[in-house]
Amino acid sequence: MPPASTFRQYTYYASWFLKSKLGMKHPLVNTMIIHYACNLRCQHCSIAANSDKLPEEGSSMSFAAATREMQAEYDKGARILFFEGGEPTIWKDGDKGLRDLIAEGRRIGYYVIGYTTNGTGSIFEESDVLSISLDGPREVHDRIRGTGVYDKLMANLERTDHPNIFANMVVMRPNLDKIKETAEIVKANPHIRGLMLNFLTPPPYDIALSHEEKVQVVNDALEWRKQKLPILNTERALKELLIEDYSDKCPYWVSSFTLPDGSKHYGCPMQGTESCKQCGFDAVREYRLILAANVETITKMSRRFALSTR
Ligand SMILES: C[S@@+](CC[C@H](N)C(=O)[O-])C[C@H]1O[C@@H](n2cnc3c(N)ncnc32)[C@H](O)[C@@H]1O
Ligand code: SF4
Repeated sequence: MPPASTFRQYTYYASWFLKSKLGMKHPLVNTMIIHYACNLRCQHCSIAANSDKLPEEGSSMSFAAATREMQAEYDKGARILFFEGGEPTIWKDGDKGLRDLIAEGRRIGYYVIGYTTNGTGSIFEESDVLSISLDGPREVHDRIRGTGVYDKLMANLERTDHPNIFANMVVMRPNLDKIKETAEIVKANPHIRGLMLNFLTPPPYDIALSHEEKVQVVNDALEWRKQKLPILNTERALKELLIEDYSDKCPYWVSSFTLPDGSKHYGCPMQGTESCKQCGFDAVREYRLILAANVETITKMSRRFALSTR
């Protein structure tokens, strides 16, 4: 399918917004957790912590199942497609890889296709947006993610011309005093457009921040934004990260989640769990603010995540 014009994309989003106000709610984002496999074992990641307990069966989606799910969510109205894992860049089904899933999403008609990655593997230039994980400067990033991971990520970034890469940082005890330094690294790197800050959503509980520490981080981040450090979170979303139990505000329905075994969640898979009461994900704040017609969120986020760069 040829790419939709910018006008068509805007029109679609405007109609989605108006319909949601009239109570006709359907997901705009389709998040596909295509497998749980990963080449790293990061300190904070519950997928890695549980990887030994996961059954072999149902821990990776087949190409046929992924295509079926992409089409099904598109038919329900989703136009933004995100691949998640595990590590999506190492996903395989026979001779099919992530590149084939992106092409399939494009053929179906998604406007924006992106994925999150630890950055140790190939960068797929044909995606519209790329979220790379950066949890600190070399020493801290490697302590959290494994020796040599930082250098691999930076070397891969050197090799790409992708126009829309941003970094995702999970703020937790091991990198609490490295946030500004990380934002400075992003500012100095011509391949990364900005830094999105999130708080750890436990487990693990022992490296999560206290509420007082989070208040300090948010106040500092608001100050660093004024100093032109490239923090992508909107001002309001940063402040709302301090509402830890976001469950009565969370617009669950904006994104559907498909898990590797084909099961579906309309809303975050953590909904209703203990973790949900300490939610540190910036994206859900931004989703809510879009629905609340917050101008900063709509302008900033649509440029990054809702308009095709192809
Ligand atoms: C689950 S990973 C999957 C993609 C890829 N493997 C990566 O590391 O970017 C997606 C994002 O979730 C973050 N993450 C992992 N565990 C988390 C937690 N407990 N709380 C908040 N974010 C977490 C990772 O740091 C990463 O930025
Ligand atoms: S690279 Fe991503 S999926 Fe893998 S262990 Fe780290 S955070 Fe988890």
